[in-house]
Amino acid sequence: MRTRHTPAAPGHAAVPRHIAIIMDGNGRWAKRRLMPRVAGHRKGVEALRGVIRACAERGVAHLTVFAFSSENWRRPPDEVTLLMELFVRALESEVTRLHQNDIRFRVIGDLSGFSERIQTLIRDAETRTRDNTRLTLTVAANYGGRWDLVQAVKKLMLSGVAPDAVNETNLTGQLSLADLPEPDLFIRTGGEQRISNFLLWQLAYTELYFTETLWPDFDSDALDAAIASYRKRERRFGRTSEQVQSVRGAAE
Ligand code: IPE
Ligand code: IPE
Ligand code: MG
Repeated sequence: MRTRHTPAAPGHAAVPRHIAIIMDGNGRWAKRRLMPRVAGHRKGVEALRGVIRACAERGVAHLTVFAFSSENWRRPPDEVTLLMELFVRALESEVTRLHQNDIRFRVIGDLSGFSERIQTLIRDAETRTRDNTRLTLTVAANYGGRWDLVQAVKKLMLSGVAPDAVNETNLTGQLSLADLPEPDLFIRTGGEQRISNFLLWQLAYTELYFTETLWPDFDSDALDAAIASYRKRERRFGRTSEQVQSVRGAAE
């Protein structure tokens, strides 16, 4: 059966429609400079600003970034507090710029874990930018792929769907990114090669790209290198290479 979200025929787009990024390495970036970890996070916000601009300029339609995982609460309380302050400051200072650039802003994750103030700022920013169409920027905050699957199952059960009627399409429909195409390209900076509980369901067929570059150093050239790597890949979605070539041939 063809599901709504996994393309039946492999896409051939030069630019990925949806990029998902684990922005990792802020702490190490700061440590190398004998600076406190939060200095790396501050620099990381700047890097994100540049990557958002670069994605919009390159025609990427959706950018989803991992800013704070459900496991990051395990960090020292001081770092968590500083990260929350940074989040508030970014929400206050960046949203106008996003809106001016026709960027839609959204947050996915368990928002109940955040203060009322942060929740209000998020809701206001989402409402203000909801009709923007140039780029969808989704920030995953207090997000975990397992949490997302569990909340989707809960919603499905509450809607009265019978066990036999559960399928990939209606489950996908309850996930946080239900309305977006699956990511074409996943990038993780900072050298680790793991998913760290990011978009577990949606990354099933995503092209994975890992780079040693630390997030604060990730600029538009680094983004272009990731996109160039993506363009060299052949996405087969289970088919043989010959089948993919013939589908492409017919489309051209
Ligand atoms: C990623 O950078 C940002 C967050 C998880 C909030 P890290 O803080 O994980 O940086 P490293 O991995 O310690 O260098
Ligand atoms: C993943 O980075 C989460 C974010 C970038 C927000 P971590 O640095 O928390 O991941 P682990 O703990 O090394 O897997
Ligand atoms: Mg890390």
